[in-house]
Amino acid sequence: MAPNVDTSVADPDITRPLLFEIAWEVANKVGGIYTVIKSKAPVTCAEYGDRYCLIGPLSYKTAPLEVEEIAPPSPALRMAIDNMRSAGIKILFGRWLVEGSPYVLLLDVGSGFGRMNEWKADLWNVAGVPSPPDDHETNQAIVFGYLVSWFLGEFVALQDRNVQSRPASDLIDDAVSARRPVVIAHFHEWLAGVALVLLRKRDINVCTVFTTHATLLGRYLCAGDVDFYNNLKFFDVDAEAGKRGIYHRYCIERAAAHCADVFTTVSHITAYEAEWLLKRKPDGVLPNGLNVVKFSAIHEFQNRHATSKEKIHEFVRGHFYGHYNFNLDNTLYFFTAGRYEFRNKGVDMFIESLARLNARLKAINSDVTVVAFIIMPAQTHSFTVEALKGQAVMKQLRETVSEIQHAIGKRIFESAAKGDLPDPKTILDEEELVLLKRRIFALRRDTLPPIVTHNMADDAADPILNHIRQVQLFNFASDRVKVIFHPEFLNSNNPLLGMDYEEFVRGCHLGVFPSYYEPWGYTPAECTVMGVPSITTNLSGFGCFMSEMISVPSDYGIYIVDRRLKSVEESVNQLADDMFEFCKKSRRQRINQRNRTERLSDVLDWKRMGQEYVKARWVAIRRKYPALVEKHEEEFGGDSDEIGHSDMQYGYESDANPLSAQREDLSSLRFHQKVPRPPSVPGSPRLREEVEDDATAHLFAAEEDKDVNVAVLMSELKALGLRGAADNYEPPVV
Ligand code: UDP
Ligand code: G6P
Ligand code: GLC
Repeated sequence: MAPNVDTSVADPDITRPLLFEIAWEVANKVGGIYTVIKSKAPVTCAEYGDRYCLIGPLSYKTAPLEVEEIAPPSPALRMAIDNMRSAGIKILFGRWLVEGSPYVLLLDVGSGFGRMNEWKADLWNVAGVPSPPDDHETNQAIVFGYLVSWFLGEFVALQDRNVQSRPASDLIDDAVSARRPVVIAHFHEWLAGVALVLLRKRDINVCTVFTTHATLLGRYLCAGDVDFYNNLKFFDVDAEAGKRGIYHRYCIERAAAHCADVFTTVSHITAYEAEWLLKRKPDGVLPNGLNVVKFSAIHEFQNRHATSKEKIHEFVRGHFYGHYNFNLDNTLYFFTAGRYEFRNKGVDMFIESLARLNARLKAINSDVTVVAFIIMPAQTHSFTVEALKGQAVMKQLRETVSEIQHAIGKRIFESAAKGDLPDPKTILDEEELVLLKRRIFALRRDTLPPIVTHNMADDAADPILNHIRQVQLFNFASDRVKVIFHPEFLNSNNPLLGMDYEEFVRGCHLGVFPSYYEPWGYTPAECTVMGVPSITTNLSGFGCFMSEMISVPSDYGIYIVDRRLKSVEESVNQLADDMFEFCKKSRRQRINQRNRTERLSDVLDWKRMGQEYVKARWVAIRRKYPALVEKHEEEFGGDSDEIGHSDMQYGYESDANPLSAQREDLSSLRFHQKVPRPPSVPGSPRLREEVEDDATAHLFAAEEDKDVNVAVLMSELKALGLRGAADNYEPPVV
């Protein structure tokens, strides 16, 4: 489709655009798109200030917690909202309570349902998009789309009228110019796509960007048993969508991709997929960033690891009561998390590899225990009694011990005050001994520690549980790998594992995300900025991005399993190898690795990644107002800082298949140098590794024992020629 060029008489002002960003996950958490929008808010607000507003659906459950209502700040906004309200549409306008505090406009989709049939008929007439009666999600997407386009249509019209009747300073924009600022609308994912199609069909003067975070067909095809990546070019897309009952959704997605002035995705792998499945070559890739918060003390994230790990210990003691025969100091916490997509998120591979890891650790008589958590929301009927009981008995024991401790303290004090030493034989009185015995007896149980913490709605058919049954990871005392499936996202009010997700991740040792279908994959990226090593794959956008950015990602605690060119069996083994090697690391090595991982944070910071959004928006303006942009660039130069950059760095080239083994230089490679290997990495790995092991263990002991003079040890090591290990040493924070 040719670009939708604005031919209206008055030239709008392209230098200070207004930006609306529209997504189903605005102030409404579902998965990673929420993270994109929330974490990007600070940089977008820094760029746009009050010229930025997010639009999403109004959820009465989450909005009261996420949004502070305020009066719309400009006449155009106020009037557009009032007009819709007087037509019965419920709207919440306010500040989203996240860093940056952007404006947010939430539309109550329910209040528009009365017009749904009329709108569905219209969508068919204007865009040829069908919609069956019983697909609730599509119905919501359509009503949401009509509400958004209604609002934007009103806003742009009122804005035009306002420019003619009053000074521009009355607008949301405080622009000095009396010209109407251009409006950019950036839409995320098919659920927000209907409005984009309508803006185009109604010829409304808005520059549009559409970012897809996955393709519907990709997600569905991969979830089934299809060799997706080798057949991408050959799918009969309409037929495949039809077979899966998603043809109408697919039409919305494809129409949005084609109607946008600029079409983007979040990674090259998804750009390639979109080109074949949506039949439009993306204009560029907008990789996902994070809002990286640096602590003033460099080692603060290490301290947080220790504090959070202690909380996980607390839960684990309760969960394994009666079978708690392993040493927590030698226990490693692995986890996977995300929306429950069994095959796409690689949970099948994770469980399989855990079984192999278990066998290997047993075979070498390892004293390491791995507790592997699976955090994926499923249909449940609350917590199991057994899981709650574990925490309760452990709490009782702790309380009893603390009471006894208090009583003993008093007794010691009393006798010491009288000049006597207490008799160790009578330090515990009879009553206390009985109480303690009762608590210990309460810890006995005949059953194994549970795999799942909740009552599953469909236990017998649950894919995760079935796979665990198949590989027989039943939490036997002899197992070195224990499994806990927590089928609900974490939060700090949880009576079992009362931690929020971030706190939990910090306390873990390794995130494992062996995805088969993953356009980006925030979970390993979040691990990285928290200094937690993770495993991802070369089929995830994040994994591909990191291997483009870093010479040897594993040096920095980013392990990338090859799921592209290897058989499933080989990939499972690679994953098991990586986990096994991780288990062999000493504490000191883990600490060092976490330091390196955390150093990569800057690579993922929105301050850097956000530049691609800036470019995409500028390309959208240029496509819609080519003559104005040309004039502007003649006056101010092509790459005027004020309004962005001329081209998108991560420009996508379709003729180079990012999946091919030979193709190593994805287009973005040309623009940067890879992060080199860390200086402390040994030249000849084996030899140095052994030397370093001893030396660092020594140093670590020194760290624990504050009486040893570390500086003396360091110079001794250097004198012995063990420079590398000594250089590796990072002094503890006291
Ligand atoms: N997440 C969460 N709580 C949890 C587990 C996961 O909030 O208990 C979040 C996580 O922080 C991440 C998102 O869920 O930002 C998942 O995003 P990702 O891109 O990995 O996958 P998606 O679900 O979008 O496919
Ligand atoms: C952090 C803390 C150390 C602690 C270590 C445990 O680095 O600052 O005090 O000893 O974590 O690491 P581990 O990998 O054994 O959990
Ligand atoms: C989608 C993808 C995920 C990505 C997220 C944010 O939900 O499944 O891989 O990280 O969007 O872009």
